[in-house]
Amino acid sequence: MSNPFSLADESAYQRWRAVRLARPAPSAARLRVWVQRPSAPTRAELEAIGARIASDGMALVSCAPEQLGAESLLALGRALGLRRTEANHFADARAVSRITPTDGQGDGRGDYIPYTERALNWHTDGYYNPPDQQVRAWMLCCLHPAREGGENQLLDPEIAYIRLRDASPDHIAALMHPEALAIPAHVVDGQVLRAESRGPVFSIQQGRLHMRYSARRRHVCWRDTPETAAARAALDELFSRETVFTFTHRLTAGEGLISNNVLHNRTAFAPAAQGERARELLRIRYIDRVNPDSWTV
Ligand SMILES: [Fe+2]
Repeated sequence: MSNPFSLADESAYQRWRAVRLARPAPSAARLRVWVQRPSAPTRAELEAIGARIASDGMALVSCAPEQLGAESLLALGRALGLRRTEANHFADARAVSRITPTDGQGDGRGDYIPYTERALNWHTDGYYNPPDQQVRAWMLCCLHPAREGGENQLLDPEIAYIRLRDASPDHIAALMHPEALAIPAHVVDGQVLRAESRGPVFSIQQGRLHMRYSARRRHVCWRDTPETAAARAALDELFSRETVFTFTHRLTAGEGLISNNVLHNRTAFAPAAQGERARELLRIRYIDRVNPDSWTV
């Protein structure tokens, strides 16, 4: 059986690559799907979201801001086949995280960049999770944007894979090594809050490409080989400039991104002035991926 992700099957790769690169570059116009009621999406809305995620790895949903809430987003996720949520440390009991700068409650959130106004470097979500708890999809929906800044850039890992394999198949081999990237355990006062995470950057899961990556320099441990160093340099080079497939977008109230955990970053944003509402997003992560192929009976 042909496998485009096998380094031994160049012709399957070339066929898959040609199909992927023939798709138009992502844009808000191409990715946007209007959803009347996220709590009860129509079949047509779900199919439109599924089609965009299948082709570009992500969809941009738009609805009336008052329609956005934890319960309506969870319902939308379920309708998309996303059932297994992944709760991080600061998510609520439903695994919904409110991404807003911490107001100094002293719960430790301010130690994590997502809960500050600072820029976030390129990553996929949950890169520090163990291999069996990988985040395969997420939604990030905007309740209120910052006055200025807070723009996202997104890139489908399939494009990253193509760029790296075209540069050298050795990069792919290095990044598929089961010990390519390790994130040390997070230990506070002798208590292990998160165990070490060690695994590949690129892996194939149920025939689909999965990427686990962080561009951060601190608290990451790359495999110490010349091949891994060369692959990392290629990744740095990839992220040093926009590609035609980089989608840049600043979410406004009522807009959300749903993706099969594509690469993304965030620019810094202006802090809320006195009396002004802070930037506020809702995020839900899933172990499942959006797989429209499984919807048809
Ligand atoms: Fe993220």
